Amino acid sequence: MPETFDLLIRNASVIDGTGALRFSADVGIRNDRIARIGDLPGARGSVEIDAGGRVLSPGFIDAHTHDDRLMLSDGDMAPKVSQGITTVIGGNCGVSLAPMPRAIPDPVTPPLNLLDGDGGWFRFRKFKDYLDALRAQPAATNCAMLVGHTTLRVATMPEGELTRPANTQEIAAMRALVEEAMQAGAIGVSTGLFYEPSIAAPTEEVIAICQPLTAHHGLYCTHMRDEADRVIDSLEESFRIGREVGVPVVISHHKLVGQANFGRSEETLAFIQKNMATQPICLDCYPYTAGSTILSADRAAGSGRVIVTWSKTLPEYAGRDLSDIARQMGVAQDEAVARLLPAGAIYFRMDEADVQRILKFGPTMIGSDGLPHDAAPHPRLWGSFPRVLGHYGRLLGLFPLETAVHKMTGLTAANFGLKDRGVVREGAFADLTLFDADTVDEAASYEKPIAAAHGIDTVIVNGSIVWQHGQSTGARPGRVLAREPENIKALR
Ligand code: ZN
Ligand code: CU
Repeated sequence: MPETFDLLIRNASVIDGTGALRFSADVGIRNDRIARIGDLPGARGSVEIDAGGRVLSPGFIDAHTHDDRLMLSDGDMAPKVSQGITTVIGGNCGVSLAPMPRAIPDPVTPPLNLLDGDGGWFRFRKFKDYLDALRAQPAATNCAMLVGHTTLRVATMPEGELTRPANTQEIAAMRALVEEAMQAGAIGVSTGLFYEPSIAAPTEEVIAICQPLTAHHGLYCTHMRDEADRVIDSLEESFRIGREVGVPVVISHHKLVGQANFGRSEETLAFIQKNMATQPICLDCYPYTAGSTILSADRAAGSGRVIVTWSKTLPEYAGRDLSDIARQMGVAQDEAVARLLPAGAIYFRMDEADVQRILKFGPTMIGSDGLPHDAAPHPRLWGSFPRVLGHYGRLLGLFPLETAVHKMTGLTAANFGLKDRGVVREGAFADLTLFDADTVDEAASYEKPIAAAHGIDTVIVNGSIVWQHGQSTGARPGRVLAREPENIKALR
């Protein structure tokens, strides 16, 4: 009797996600798990794929997303599965869709409007209600979710008073919401201390609301207060929060902003490495020299090129350069910004050498920070992972393919505590990406930001094929993942 599988992938070049060198093998899948890896000439599969020597790796884990709503509103997750992503970490930068125990103002307070402009989606009173909705109506990808500090502030502080520190009662209310979220299955808290209005929150407020993370072994993820002149102070603030709460810190989308800070990644990475010796610290990065967030006159003034990604007032300008828009309107740039608001933008204000140094740093994970609801999004939404494999790996030789894959699979699963994910191993979940190492790269660009990547052949989540022949299959096998750190003591 031949050995039988639900899905059999023959002649693959397996990169297992640990950083180890690739090897040739057949991979057999039963139900949602990898059952066998080896030379399986006599085996049969209900479905068989001949990999023809292409690379079979763990499905990529997007360490930093804003996909909270996309999973419910467009669950095929095409921007993600088309890149080979099988799991997303959501609720970043202080912005989570839940909990929202009261009516949210319309228009929605920035930066929460990154998820929804008029507030209809902020409908989950408890974090549990949101996770239950994801379970009842799964997306194509798995997810692990953070609860956002800015969301908690909007949920608990009086409208119009968000620009002050939270008082004792408000802190207690936020802490209770964090406790509820952690009990429901959140993996940690995120902050966006960079953004108004949460920039008003002192370090002590964050430490106080994060208290429930200690017992639940959660994570603290942060878009730091300052990624420019005061970046070292902000790193120290983040590390202090991690130490006082007793949890690992994730520095989100590490970068150096503004010409005056170009080159300072030498200093920040050395500082991060030094502190890693005494406490658990992780970091992620997206592979571009432009960032993207809500439009503001200050940020625009401090940048080179600025591209408008969406505008609620004047949607026809999405995808155009701000300088062109101002010229066409016959007004100064500040006035053009005022007319476009609320709006989003791409800002060119980082140094290529810093981006490369941070990507290459051993502990750096890959995260897209994609903004899925923008009319003309930053190309990182559709291109981050293939760009790391193709542009930075194959073309620029920043690292071997095995290292690039590790930064988006095994490393990320270990840091976030995603058990039996991020690795091709017998018994692990069958989250897999089959791609062509010779052609994989992003197809998206600043000019044409919505495009499925080159070279991604087949993407499998929990044993089901979600992307094949250049399109979504319609399967939605995604699950809500818990944080299950392998060795909790080592993390403390
Ligand atoms: Zn951010
Ligand atoms: Cu973000």
